[in-house]
Amino acid sequence: MDKTALITGASAGLGKEFARQLAAQGYQLVLVARNPEPLQATAAELQHDYGVQTLVLPADLSKPEAPRQIFTSLETQGLHIDYLVNNAGIAGPDLLTDRDWQVHSRFFELMMVSVAQMCHLFAPGMQERGMGRIINIASVAGRIPRSGNSNYGPAKAYLIALSEELSLTLRGSGVKVCALCPGFTHTEFHQRAGLTAMKNSLPKWLWYDADVVVREGLQAIEKNKSVYISGRLYRWLDPLFQSVFTRRLFFISDRRNQSGTP
Ligand SMILES: NC(=O)c1ccc[n+]([C@@H]2O[C@H](COP(=O)([O-])OP(=O)(O)OC[C@H]3O[C@@H](n4cnc5c(N)ncnc54)[C@H](OP(=O)(O)O)[C@@H]3O)[C@@H](O)[C@H]2O)c1
Repeated sequence: MDKTALITGASAGLGKEFARQLAAQGYQLVLVARNPEPLQATAAELQHDYGVQTLVLPADLSKPEAPRQIFTSLETQGLHIDYLVNNAGIAGPDLLTDRDWQVHSRFFELMMVSVAQMCHLFAPGMQERGMGRIINIASVAGRIPRSGNSNYGPAKAYLIALSEELSLTLRGSGVKVCALCPGFTHTEFHQRAGLTAMKNSLPKWLWYDADVVVREGLQAIEKNKSVYISGRLYRWLDPLFQSVFTRRLFFISDRRNQSGTP
């Protein structure tokens, strides 16, 4: 029987690349994002290139009802999910300066609550079948506190903690869970967030292509990594991020008010 992968945020950037690489492995695809047109275009492209079946499910994961609706819709169609990629995400509001709490609430729903609920809904079925993969897209921003919008890094830190704990809980069940932590990656993310000037001001060697990040993530989960920093540069930097000395340096540079959002 065909295996099925569900990818959120599948119409652009890392999500679209996950869909492409999983299609190349022969997975049927369930593609989720808000806007139906780019999703349908992605589905048509992947059907054409890889001959896989695709199902487009437009949904806004910042709405609390979305994960349950996705789950119920798949259940009704008799489809079970073997590979779940919780990838949809945005740069997000500033905790202190954005004064509309609804905006924060929707951000937390998208970045944390919906991911936890997707795991809650889909992991037990994987467990029962004795096979499954869940990749939660976190970020190197979740590995070190910086001064900034005080929302994005903490949300990604939650996904890292959630993935590590789920991975331990599901050990031996045939279900593997990994938090993939990309650094700066060429996608639509920074343009959508109005951060094009910041992107252009950063050195090119800090940036990775989405295909590299995704390939490394798909390999890492097979090697039982519960957290994986993608990109050689960021893997090298990560132990430094964890040191008191580096945190002190970041503290000093943050006081000079420099920030970015990988
Ligand atoms: N690019 C980077 O440098 C970088 C680095 C580290 C981590 N990440 C993380 O990687 C993930 C993917 O980002 P990306 O760089 O590929 O961004 P992207 O190119 O902007 O793609 C984002 C995708 O998420 C979808 N999406 C956004 N809000 C959504 C919502 N409320 N409900 C459902 N889908 C939604 C978008 O489609 P619609 O707008 O149609 O919904 C799109 O398909 C994010 O979690 C991001 O935090 C990115």
